[in-house]
Amino acid sequence: MTRRILMVGNWKMNQSLGDIRSFFETIKIGQRELCKNAWIAPQLIHLQALLESVAGTEIKIGAQNCSEHQSGAFTGETSPAALKDLGAHFTLIGHSERRSLYGETCAQVAAKTKAALENGLTPIVCVGETLAEREAGQTLNVVLGQVQRGLQGIPEDKKNNIIIAYEPVWAIGTGKVAGPAEAQEVHAAIRATLAQIGLMASEISILYGGSVKPDNVASLLECPDIDGGLVGGASLKASDYLVLCKAAKERE
Ligand code: PGA
Repeated sequence: MTRRILMVGNWKMNQSLGDIRSFFETIKIGQRELCKNAWIAPQLIHLQALLESVAGTEIKIGAQNCSEHQSGAFTGETSPAALKDLGAHFTLIGHSERRSLYGETCAQVAAKTKAALENGLTPIVCVGETLAEREAGQTLNVVLGQVQRGLQGIPEDKKNNIIIAYEPVWAIGTGKVAGPAEAQEVHAAIRATLAQIGLMASEISILYGGSVKPDNVASLLECPDIDGGLVGGASLKASDYLVLCKAAKERE
């Protein structure tokens, strides 16, 4: 896989079927603003609806989470094989809300990343420090540790098919965005770590997430190690998402 610029919408537990219809009406009108890699992760129950809605566009659809298991007695879970079967392209893994609200550990993140890769899904592995960790000067320790542990044991022949998303927890949904210099410092350190653990770091996309908005996206994308965004709030409104995609397109 080669490094590319992406704009990934993480819809979390939002959007009704009606919202989805109007979202894509606006997207189809503004289609020429879409970047090559405009990806959206809806609620799982809407995956099929989105797969139908994006027909005729370049948008790719994925999941917000997946099981580390292939199949079996895991009530309420979704298998990466089933996601692939349906037409999903990628899955988020280890989003900070999964880690903090559902106790997901780095070992689970590694197992899920491995399962996603083995099933032909592109994992977007999310990492990020809390405010307390940043204030204690622990940002790089925490983030690089999450990268190392989250990628442990991934299959050798697919190890470069991953995407990393750096999302400082204090910036998610808060309106507080990391400054471009602050974000760039962490992105560069993540890239160096990827190289240390034997990945083709220069070929791996590293996204920034946490209050990415139309008015700050350009300054973030100017940073040499920021290869796009993982966007919550601003990806829910089609007109805002198109602005974000257009900014990404200008960097392709
Ligand atoms: P936000 O969310 O853009 O609303 O801050 C980002 C995320 O959680 O992926």
